Amino acid sequence: MTASDLRRRADALGPWFHNLDLGDGVWTAPDHFLGDYPGVKWRRFAHAIPADLTGKSVLDIGCNGGFYAITMKQRGAARVLGVDSDERYLAQARFAAAHLGYDIEFRNLSVYDVGTLGERFDVVLFMGVLYHLRHPLLALDLIREHVAGDLMVFQSMLRGSRAVEPVAEDYDFWDMDQFERPGYPRMHFVERAYAHDWTNWWIPNRAGIEAMLRASGFSIAGQPEAEVYICRAAPVPYGLGAEYPARADTQGRR
Ligand SMILES: C[S@@+](CC[C@H](N)C(=O)[O-])C[C@H]1O[C@@H](n2cnc3c(N)ncnc32)[C@H](O)[C@@H]1O
Repeated sequence: MTASDLRRRADALGPWFHNLDLGDGVWTAPDHFLGDYPGVKWRRFAHAIPADLTGKSVLDIGCNGGFYAITMKQRGAARVLGVDSDERYLAQARFAAAHLGYDIEFRNLSVYDVGTLGERFDVVLFMGVLYHLRHPLLALDLIREHVAGDLMVFQSMLRGSRAVEPVAEDYDFWDMDQFERPGYPRMHFVERAYAHDWTNWWIPNRAGIEAMLRASGFSIAGQPEAEVYICRAAPVPYGLGAEYPARADTQGRR
């Protein structure tokens, strides 16, 4: 394929959110408002992900144009499955992976349906999706319950204070000051739109996302970049927690 054919094929699948280097000087989103995205972000936390993923399985939830799925394959992962709820992005990812010669499976699947996969993965990527969800804690619960085998690489847009205060075991009914303090866990609800994007629904502060990760059964092993957390599957706190119809009794907790 000539460079101009490649440019035409890429443009026909656009607009792209992921700026992928397709070779021959063809990039998929050279004018991205965040720069060379997500390459610029990846380079800030790449050191925190195992350099050798030989033999590992990877699930990339909200894979978009496939940047991270391809990157995991480049690190030697045996099996990479990318899922997204938007067929247009899946078409981009399939085209890019095939063109670059990577054997990656891409499926149309919502994060709320990961239970249907019936499989745990050594590495789960859940990057840049949480704040697009109307039910973000449910998504984390389902990931923990059904697909997280060990490592989860997580990223969210964060807004508000970066302070994190220790969370007490309990607060008295008349204790209210904590709600005013910047380091208390908080989610900001977006009723209309944020950043010209009506699919932004819930934006946590730093304390809020760390609390949500813990509450859904992830321990935080590192934060190599301001928005990126390296998590491990940990015991799920609070016993049954909230019960959802979509949650199966996979852990014998009933
Ligand atoms: C901001 S992009 C992030 C893409 C990529 N993970 C990254 O970090 O660059 C959000 C992606 O999540 C996908 N998405 C939104 N809601 C989803 C859902 N319920 N299940 C799966 N993917 C979803 C969107 O289609 C989009 O591709």
